[in-house]
Amino acid sequence: MSVRIGDVAPDFTAPTTHGDIAFHEWLGDSWGVLFSHPKDFTPVCTTELGTVARLKPEFDKRNVKVIGLSVDPVDSHLEWEQDIAETQGTPVNFPMIGDSDRTVADLYEMIHPNANDTLTVRSVFVIGPDKKIKLSLTYPASTGRNFDELLRVIDSLQLTAKHKVATPADWKHGDDVIIGSAVTNEEAAELFPNGWTTVKPYLRVVPQPGS
Ligand code: BEZ
Repeated sequence: MSVRIGDVAPDFTAPTTHGDIAFHEWLGDSWGVLFSHPKDFTPVCTTELGTVARLKPEFDKRNVKVIGLSVDPVDSHLEWEQDIAETQGTPVNFPMIGDSDRTVADLYEMIHPNANDTLTVRSVFVIGPDKKIKLSLTYPASTGRNFDELLRVIDSLQLTAKHKVATPADWKHGDDVIIGSAVTNEEAAELFPNGWTTVKPYLRVVPQPGS
């Protein structure tokens, strides 16, 4: 059974480069990003982990804890981290799970046998403070992820968790948003007293609340 949006993120205890972590307890009240990479000492993964390390202040600002995973053991992660620091200009500043027995990979279905039956694909799960899955993404081994896009989605998830709005295509923090379709015009008048633009009765645009 796959892990889908709205499901409770499976809990686990696993060895990491920062010691053993009980996942839900470690998340606490934060948002979380759990992402897998196929294999240590591989080029695309090296750039991805360097990128996430550089973006750590952006995740911190959003109250998001980040944790990586591959089916290689923690000792291997720690050795590889030296290369990442050397080549990517930032030490890895978040924990990486050593999932040699594939416990976590199996729980989150990170191994796709038709892609490769021994390596994890590039999965990303965003988890809310309620421990529920808010987003899942799967990329093939050959394509590095865009972590700015991940931050953009987190901005949207956090905004729409707080306000009855949705975000349009290519939205970025600060852009106009869409009034949720379940919101009547009467309710909208209370929520958005400065008004909105009705492009179509089902497409009502309003400045981003709180910006
Ligand atoms: C990489 O990170 O470069 C990679 C990992 C596994 C398969 C192919 C590429």
